[in-house]
Amino acid sequence: MNAAGIRCATTDDLDNLITSNAGAYVTKSATPDPRVGNPSPRMKGLPNGSINAMGLPNHGLDYYLDYVLADQKKRPDRMNFLSVAGITLDDNLQMLHTIQDSAFNGFTELNLSCPNVPGKPQVGYDFGRVQEVLTAVFDFFTKPLGVKLPPYFDMAHFDQIAAILNRYPLAFVNTINSVGNGLVINAETETAVLKPKGGFGGIGGASIKPIALANVRALRLRLNPTIAIIGTGGVVNGQDVFEHLLCGADMVQIGSKFGFEGTPLFDRLNQELSAIMATKGYTSIADFKGKLKTLD
Ligand code: FUM
Repeated sequence: MNAAGIRCATTDDLDNLITSNAGAYVTKSATPDPRVGNPSPRMKGLPNGSINAMGLPNHGLDYYLDYVLADQKKRPDRMNFLSVAGITLDDNLQMLHTIQDSAFNGFTELNLSCPNVPGKPQVGYDFGRVQEVLTAVFDFFTKPLGVKLPPYFDMAHFDQIAAILNRYPLAFVNTINSVGNGLVINAETETAVLKPKGGFGGIGGASIKPIALANVRALRLRLNPTIAIIGTGGVVNGQDVFEHLLCGADMVQIGSKFGFEGTPLFDRLNQELSAIMATKGYTSIADFKGKLKTLD
């Protein structure tokens, strides 16, 4: 499926996802009110992925909630994802109350990891704050909910975030968001390629696959088995999907490459993954999911 933010900000984008071979869709992370986001240029393709500092441009929660509710009526057998990314805790609680009080019965993704709002640090890097947010959320929210996390880079941090997440009835964890605050420059003009935040932006695409796989694997080894894992980051072909599943992902999302290729990407990935499974004699994902071998 797509990763939140990529070709999922408008009803046309979401219609295209519905008619594609994606397994599900997730809507652009919403704020309570529409946002225009950061000034352009705010996204640039790179040889191995992308850098972006979009700043959460979106049409506001009502727009996406209306869409998923209408879709739910048309296709009651399909579960999809509604993503929210409040700028403040109050924003998040307000949106989650609205979702709780609505008829929406799909998955809600609480994005704790957008690196691109000037002056607003990623909640996922503040463990005390993560705990505070989840305690407030699960005080009233009873529908299936997961969190989108930033990448972690230290074993102690994997231990700490997993210990916190395991205290809550999370349906899933989505790992990873872009690798925040990279810097890409044009050496000829001696200028940063993005305008917002002095050029700092989230890095996605092939170059971040090892970081994504490490986070999927590390969290799968630490999280309660009842918490599903969505593996996101660095997927450009069927082998990358296979590797995410091998590390323990239950579902895989694609960001940058989906941005470049559009919905035909899902056909290609399905074919490439099927071919790898056939070569290896696997007939179902369960044959290899989470079964990464190590050398020790
Ligand atoms: O800037 C953005 O809109 C990105 C959001 C995210 O990475 O979650």
